[in-house]
Amino acid sequence: MTAPELTGSPGLSVLLDPADLRAQLSDDVRKGLTAPEKWLPPKYFYDDLGSELFEEITRVTEYYPTRAERTLLHLHATEIAALSGASVLLELGSGSSAKTRILLDALSGAGRLSGYVAVDVSQGALAGAVAMLAAEHPGLPVEAVVADFERDLCALPVPGSRLVAFLGGTIGNFAPRQREGFLSSLSAALWPGESLLVGLDLVKDPLRLVAAYDDAAGVTARFNKNVLRVLNRELGADFDIAAFTHVARWDPYQEWIEMRLQADRAMTVDIADLGLEISFRRGEEIRTEISAKFRRAGIERELAAAGLSPQGWWSDGDYALVLAKA
Ligand code: SAH
Ligand code: TRP
Repeated sequence: MTAPELTGSPGLSVLLDPADLRAQLSDDVRKGLTAPEKWLPPKYFYDDLGSELFEEITRVTEYYPTRAERTLLHLHATEIAALSGASVLLELGSGSSAKTRILLDALSGAGRLSGYVAVDVSQGALAGAVAMLAAEHPGLPVEAVVADFERDLCALPVPGSRLVAFLGGTIGNFAPRQREGFLSSLSAALWPGESLLVGLDLVKDPLRLVAAYDDAAGVTARFNKNVLRVLNRELGADFDIAAFTHVARWDPYQEWIEMRLQADRAMTVDIADLGLEISFRRGEEIRTEISAKFRRAGIERELAAAGLSPQGWWSDGDYALVLAKA
């Protein structure tokens, strides 16, 4: 299937254009790779190839969160739709929107659904999702918004009373203070009575967690290394991608998984467009992602602190959906 070209189509708005994204990338790379402990922010994983690799991750045996979330949505979407009272589904970091149809069906079953808004940094992922939804829900107004959910929450459309969905455990990819900022901005962007549905992964056996982020087939490793390919392409860097090893590590104090890329040998990398030379010691690592794991009391406290009152909790013990109201 080929994705339709979105540019110029009526259902697409762009709050984050490629020039903005590239400017952010330049700043972030300069900051992150010159820090004493090198790091990169996660949103640059998701170019077209990265979005495809993430879809592949969701089908990997060891990666249970997607399956767990899909099952929870099947079991509880009707109740969630009823509790939300919403007429519009707005999804942050929607990716392929593969699980979204479950919520759309529940909202339309309740006789209220008037539209779907998909928000993602990845225009490629949005294009595929919009094509799929147009085929499955003909007549449903669908809007795709290329935006940064850390920056653009206030500028998102309000075509009706919204249920904001933030699925896939993506909330775990923020550092704690960043998460606090995100939740309070989101709370400020919601109208009273609008709802937030968050999918989150729970603390569990570290062996299962590490396996989910270091699958035997090496899909997650390819996904992690893709960020270096993005830097090579977008910033004229000359990372030797084969000289890095994917590492997934459980931090028992922070209760998060860390994804890292470890340099197999000492090397110097030239980032031509930034006029920057970055040297690596043998074994030195770049932290590319954290994926925090939650406990019910902790996340409910965080939501409440942001002014979002918890309305429902559904879990299979591994993964949870939490609904909160502004
Ligand atoms: N919701 C989907 C995808 C999760 S992967 C699922 O549950 O399977 C995370 C998604 O968030 C990706 O599609 C990525 O492109 C998007 N994303 C990451 N950082 C973002 C940001 N700052 N703003 C908007 N979207 C972002
Ligand atoms: N939101 C996903 C998660 O934390 C993103 C993800 C899954 C991911 N596997 C990854 C990010 C590997 C970086 C590397 O589960």
